[in-house]
Amino acid sequence: MADFVSPFWDLYVKVLIALSFAFCIWIIAANSKISGRVGELQPHSWDENLQEWNNPLPRWWVYLFWATLIFAILYLMIYPGFGAFKGFAGWSSVGQWEREMQQAEAKYGPLFAKYRNMDVKAVAADKDAMAMGGRLFQTYCMQCHGADARGAKGFPNLTDNDWLGGDGSPEYIRSVIQAGRMGVMTPFPHLGQEGAKDVAHFVRALAGLQHDAARAQRGRAIFAENCVACHGPDGKGMTAVGAPNLTDNIWLYGSSEQQIVQNVLNGIQNRMPAFGEFLGADKVHILTAYVWNLSRGGSSR
Ligand code: HEC
Ligand code: HEC
Repeated sequence: MADFVSPFWDLYVKVLIALSFAFCIWIIAANSKISGRVGELQPHSWDENLQEWNNPLPRWWVYLFWATLIFAILYLMIYPGFGAFKGFAGWSSVGQWEREMQQAEAKYGPLFAKYRNMDVKAVAADKDAMAMGGRLFQTYCMQCHGADARGAKGFPNLTDNDWLGGDGSPEYIRSVIQAGRMGVMTPFPHLGQEGAKDVAHFVRALAGLQHDAARAQRGRAIFAENCVACHGPDGKGMTAVGAPNLTDNIWLYGSSEQQIVQNVLNGIQNRMPAFGEFLGADKVHILTAYVWNLSRGGSSR
């Protein structure tokens, strides 16, 4: 694959390099010759008493200069740099990266192979595997789910065995890590500020939180009309559509009136990225066991 989007840049780089070489050669050549007689005092003076001898540049310095030019030419013959020319050594940063990846695979492959065919529950019981899982989690997951996996607003707690879209089985956890997930709730702008407040108080009542009884009463009808399709008639949620249980007082976004109103009026768009391709099946396997273990009271260390 060419590194340049158009052949123009290949030529541009080559011409620039050639001109730089020509310039350097001209500079040394021009300064290696001296006119007039060697060792003579030059006719000019500065400040009345500062004068200059007519001496050539020191030889060692000139040779060093030539040596750097020769080095540059050899370098550009061996390594990539001269436009699109790849160099005779065939080296590339991609090639080096691929070799390093192969070495890593050779080194760590057997480590993963040990767990590859083990059941998730067996992997979860293995101390070494959980230490590996912990390191993987701290590398790839903690930015969003927190170092202790307890999550934050919008990022679910993975230690509580409460799940957005499934039963917390190894299969569910694996599928989320592999394929990611979208948390989408449609917005309900037509309810208006007042309608959204009413239904928010009904939701707070469902969760057993302090609420305005009159608003909650009006909110019940709004909920029945707009929300049960996903959150279920009793608000206990439906894992099939990923709509969470609203009665358990476990909140992904928060339980304040203001927060619920915002969810209802603006809807929700949340995304967990897919890791399957990036991490590969072996690492996903270990992370699945790690998260499954956490959700069942396992330690996050
Ligand atoms: C860029 C942020 C981000 C990163 C990084 C991330 N996640 Fe997530 N994850 C999320 C979000 C956001 C959700 C919730 C999506 C939703 O609202 O449905 C989620 C959901 C999940 C769920 C489902 C939780 C549930 O209650 O159903 C699991 C399991 C999970 N993540 C595991 C992981 C693992 C393991 C990693 C590391 C490989 C990871 N996540 C990395 C953002 C992230
Ligand atoms: C189309 C299906 C759907 C409908 C209809 C729906 N929701 Fe949701 N709701 C969801 C989903 C899915 C989520 C979780 C989003 C995520 O995974 O991040 C959610 C999340 C919520 C949350 C956040 C819960 C938390 O833990 O912070 C609240 C509150 C909520 N819905 C209330 C309502 C109310 C009130 C209505 C009716 C006005 C409603 N929903 C209608 C699908 C729906």
